[in-house]
Amino acid sequence: MIEFNEVTKSYSVGTHALRGVSMQIEDGEFAFLIGPSGSGKSTIIKLITGELEPTSGTVHVNGYSLDRIRKREIPYLRRTVGVVFQDFRLIETKTVYENVAFAMRAIGAREDEIRDRVPYILELVGLENKSRRHPTELSGGEQQRLAIARALVNNPSTIIADEPTGNLDPAMSLEIMSLLQEINNLGTTMLVVTHDRDLVERFGKRVIAINDGVVVHDGMDGYYRV
Ligand SMILES: Nc1ncnc2c1ncn2[C@@H]1O[C@H](COP(=O)(O)OP(=O)(O)OP(=O)(O)O)[C@@H](O)[C@H]1O
Ligand SMILES: [Mg+2]
Repeated sequence: MIEFNEVTKSYSVGTHALRGVSMQIEDGEFAFLIGPSGSGKSTIIKLITGELEPTSGTVHVNGYSLDRIRKREIPYLRRTVGVVFQDFRLIETKTVYENVAFAMRAIGAREDEIRDRVPYILELVGLENKSRRHPTELSGGEQQRLAIARALVNNPSTIIADEPTGNLDPAMSLEIMSLLQEINNLGTTMLVVTHDRDLVERFGKRVIAINDGVVVHDGMDGYYRV
């Protein structure tokens, strides 16, 4: 579960990125996070992953209190949260297979576990026939699916995707969003940041809209036009 309670975040004097955000995302939920540029979306993501600390208020993620967490506990928190970055952050010198395997090695998985799990995950995202390619030999949509595979491979309870369809055409965007929905159907909590209103309307999920550091809409019933 993700819970924000009256969270504020100021970067420096005068930059109040979040000004009292409260929200709760239950285990297994699918929610979109929308809002204009500079409204605070990435700040929320960085608070969830422990990259930033709140200025005031409390943040709870999968049993960890982010405002009280010890530095050495952060790797354990991060195992529960898979992040799909907007710029993918793939390793270009490694193959598709090795990019996913690397994420497992980073948390100390055994080689036999890696040999079992990586092909399963590549099949789940539809990249089983591309495992020997390098990221530069993939289309934008395939790179995005690889980024999702990597976020998924350590079986996190939560996935956060920052603009996962930012650079894709409408057909590919629909495909990626459908993949995220399938993963959610398997039980993973999903928080998706997007600017794509058409997709948001099409999927009919919960929408949390943020504007200037405050939540201006939260619900299933359409969304506030920001
Ligand atoms: N490291 C930083 N130092 C100072 N101010 C920052 C920093 N990061 C973000 N901000 C400011 O905090 C506010 C929220 O930024 P944030 O990155 O959360 O917005 P966003 O909703 O993710 O925008 P975008 O859609 O453009 O990615 C903005 O006013 C931004 O300029
Ligand atoms: Mg952002």
